[in-house]
Amino acid sequence: MAIRDDNDPPAPLRVRIEPMTRKDLPEVMAIERASFADPWALVAFERELDNEFSRTPVARDEDGRVVGYTVYWVAGPEYHILNIAVREDARRRGVGRLLMNRIIADALRDKAEFIALEVRPSNLAARAMYRKYGFVTVGIRPHYYHDGEDAEVMILHLRP
Ligand SMILES: CC(C)(COP(=O)(O)OP(=O)(O)OC[C@H]1O[C@@H](n2cnc3c(N)ncnc32)[C@H](O)[C@@H]1OP(=O)(O)O)[C@@H](O)C(=O)NCCC(=O)NCCS
Repeated sequence: MAIRDDNDPPAPLRVRIEPMTRKDLPEVMAIERASFADPWALVAFERELDNEFSRTPVARDEDGRVVGYTVYWVAGPEYHILNIAVREDARRRGVGRLLMNRIIADALRDKAEFIALEVRPSNLAARAMYRKYGFVTVGIRPHYYHDGEDAEVMILHLRP
């Protein structure tokens, strides 16, 4: 029998990835508000659920609760990640990675050429995750965020 030590990293969370529905929006909004200084409004998620170019998977735990979600656009050769967040108490347990795997698998299946996103330079956790997947910084959008912080534009090239 494996004996767990308090210093061990938390075990990966068992989740399933499913499409977001309107019923998920209260849980999604709670995660969104807890995750960002400038959270999306409810109407922004509603709009993405109706947008045919938008994909909006959620990660659910074994009890069916939403522990993470992402929103990304399929725009010809480009996939664009608009949003990704994991509930605070479920972080560092592989949920972000599973959502990223879903995006990349989708993009490869669609033969997309690259995946792009914007990220705050101060967001060390997200930048570490993107870099782990091979995203590289290709530019800066000055004063992109409401509080005036720049955005780093990061890209993952899917073709040589
Ligand atoms: C970024 C975020 C989605 C990562 O989700 P997560 O479920 O914690 O990520 P994972 O456990 O799958 O980790 C994936 C990798 O990301 C990196 N990472 C995640 N959190 C990190 C942290 N706090 N510090 C350093 N690296 C981190 C690691 O490389 C990690 O791989 P490892 O666990 O093998 O070392 C999560 O921190 C979050 O919701 N942040 C708030 C919302 C946000 O900033 N979204 C991004 C907007 S651009």
